[in-house]
Amino acid sequence: MSSKENQIAAAGQRRENLLKALQNHAININSGGNPMAVIYTAPSYIRNNDVEHEYRPGSDMMYLTAFPEPSSILVLRPSASDGEKAILFVRPKDPERELWDGFRHGPQGATETFNIDAAFDIAEFPKKLGELMKGHTSLWAKWGEFPNQDAQLLACYHQTRLRTRKSGIYPSVLGELSEVLHEQRQIKDEVEVAAMRQAGLISGNAFANVMAATKPGLNEADIAAHMEYQFKRGGAQRSGYGAIVAGGSNACVLHYVSNNQPLKDGDLLLVDAGGEVDMYTADITRTWPVNGKFSPAQKDLYEIVLAAQEASIAATVPGKSIKVVHEASRSVLAQGLIDLGVLKCSLAEALGEEGDEPAKIPLHKYFMHGTSHWIGSDVHDVGRYFDGSVPRLFKPGMAITVEPGLYIPTNDESVSADLRGIGIRIEDDILVTASGNEVLTKTAPKTVAEVEAAVGSNPLDA
Ligand code: GLY
Ligand code: MN
Ligand code: MN
Repeated sequence: MSSKENQIAAAGQRRENLLKALQNHAININSGGNPMAVIYTAPSYIRNNDVEHEYRPGSDMMYLTAFPEPSSILVLRPSASDGEKAILFVRPKDPERELWDGFRHGPQGATETFNIDAAFDIAEFPKKLGELMKGHTSLWAKWGEFPNQDAQLLACYHQTRLRTRKSGIYPSVLGELSEVLHEQRQIKDEVEVAAMRQAGLISGNAFANVMAATKPGLNEADIAAHMEYQFKRGGAQRSGYGAIVAGGSNACVLHYVSNNQPLKDGDLLLVDAGGEVDMYTADITRTWPVNGKFSPAQKDLYEIVLAAQEASIAATVPGKSIKVVHEASRSVLAQGLIDLGVLKCSLAEALGEEGDEPAKIPLHKYFMHGTSHWIGSDVHDVGRYFDGSVPRLFKPGMAITVEPGLYIPTNDESVSADLRGIGIRIEDDILVTASGNEVLTKTAPKTVAEVEAAVGSNPLDA
């Protein structure tokens, strides 16, 4: 099967799973047991005047249908007696618009190619939705994300309620679909894992090639452009998020976006970037010396971050949690900074107590972000982090980033001058497996020896 056929087949299985889960959830919360769900794809946005931003379909829509066109809406009815459990509303065929903007599947193409039970012209949505709602006891959607979509859905809901309140059943419970859909998305299926492996492989290779291209005199913008080129040349469709390309002390700005400063001999370069393959992104950070050789101070800090990351990756196994992974990094980073003389206190003091204000935790001055987030179709992927107050435990099929860092402020006179202004982060993407974990991004050079061998081996023209 082609990759597209795999995605369509996987989407069909995911719809089946969601239909069952939604039915059970609707029964569990006593909402009458006859739910329906409405899923909108991502809207397209105007960039300026009549020019649109590059379109990227919504993650939920692609997960459930693999249907990539804008302005599409999916309706799911787990207990549909007419057999139409999955209905798509799509743009109609239109030779004139297709001449200007490209191919449209139209309703017939949507049913035939994407194995959807029924499909209609998007213009029919408001009227049809009213009819479809009758008899359902609850209506599920992702509320609040896109106000225009909420408004359309609620107007339709209101009309249906007015029409049916005297006789008949209308959805008297409005439910949050993320509670069911995003729980499902947190455990990746085989097709998702294959895309994530490919995104990790391509993106890791891109990092190796961009390290090879690096030399003093280039600009952060050269590196950003080359990274994008390497992703696409490797087979990624796009970047999964805006890259951070930060030379020298710009690395201490956690979400640095300017990406336009010269790269200096003697400085480090931090790059946080990932390519997206079939809707799944990698999220990698590496930090390397612009001239190919770590200074002693840079190397000292780098080795601490690397040891922290390795300890955290080792903790990314079934039954552990993001909190355990974070604490593993925190301990290694804090001990490393104590050994270097940056923190002048005990390990326990450096780590602080649970619930302390950040300003009271000595380590927080140098490591102020979390170690991990879920990763998948969205770089900061969906799904809960806690079950009640308990950190969610890892199960096979979950995927996280592991990304400890150290950032020494340029004006920190409490540390030796050669450490000031250094920012280092190392980030990989980790899939939890039954036997432990799989690092998806291991083609990106990481040890000091690997990085030094890679940098400058095939430099770009300045
Ligand atoms: N690239 C964003 C992050 O690492 O969370
Ligand atoms: Mn990142
Ligand atoms: Mn990340």
